[in-house]
Amino acid sequence: MNNSSIGLLDSGVGGLSVLSELYKIMPNQNYVFFGDTKNVPYGTKSPEEIFSYTKNILDFFISKKIKIAIFACNTTSAVAYDRLKEHFEDKIKIYPLIQSVAKYTIEGLKDNDTVAILATKATINSKKYNNEIKKYNPNINIIGIDCTGFVEIVENRLYENPQSIELIKSKLEIARNHNAKRIILGCTHYPYLKKHFKNILDVEYFNPANTLAKIIKNDLNNNNQKGTLKFYVSKNPDGFIKSAKTFFNVEKASLIDI
Ligand code: DGL
Repeated sequence: MNNSSIGLLDSGVGGLSVLSELYKIMPNQNYVFFGDTKNVPYGTKSPEEIFSYTKNILDFFISKKIKIAIFACNTTSAVAYDRLKEHFEDKIKIYPLIQSVAKYTIEGLKDNDTVAILATKATINSKKYNNEIKKYNPNINIIGIDCTGFVEIVENRLYENPQSIELIKSKLEIARNHNAKRIILGCTHYPYLKKHFKNILDVEYFNPANTLAKIIKNDLNNNNQKGTLKFYVSKNPDGFIKSAKTFFNVEKASLIDI
């Protein structure tokens, strides 16, 4: 690890969907991923709890001399970023997911089109997507759908479980009833479910991770070093590795209590 490492944080394996996009277009960077598997899911926790988990991870990154932190997590971007940014401003550059990509989520949409946000309870309650999108177009209809339970499906790899499919159907039904033109994957765990989503409701899906990766690439200097990947979790490294194999050939995640 060195000064140029990029830290990514999430409650668990969701953030790997962001890391994989970064790695695709910038394989020559050094990445440190922290999955807070001890405290997953974040989305049903209080803002105070989410703030404190996120702060601890940023302190951990700083202790590792990391200069860039990516919130590979919508929930922390929605609930904790505003409070954390001043405190950490001089110490680490933070990229919050929602605020970084909001402008692009509605690209190509017209006034009165409807966009549906699938996200955790905390993200939906925060109205962060609504507020950020409205800055760019106040005339887009935004439907927030609280998808509590999806994170557990992903963390426990219950993709084919009939109850999982029923839950997913019931949430997408809301988007269908509102005639949503586009669906935003407002939680980084949800790209793991994309195949199911498409089978149930065949509309356009927006994965903010692609856009965020491009924004970051644009900001960083290119280099010719050989990139590295390092994974830390706060609990259950074996479970993490099983899920992580969707995106990476991960062999090891270090267990760390922060
Ligand atoms: N993957 C995170 C997000 O994007 C957190 C999900 C959770 O732990 O509830 O919101």
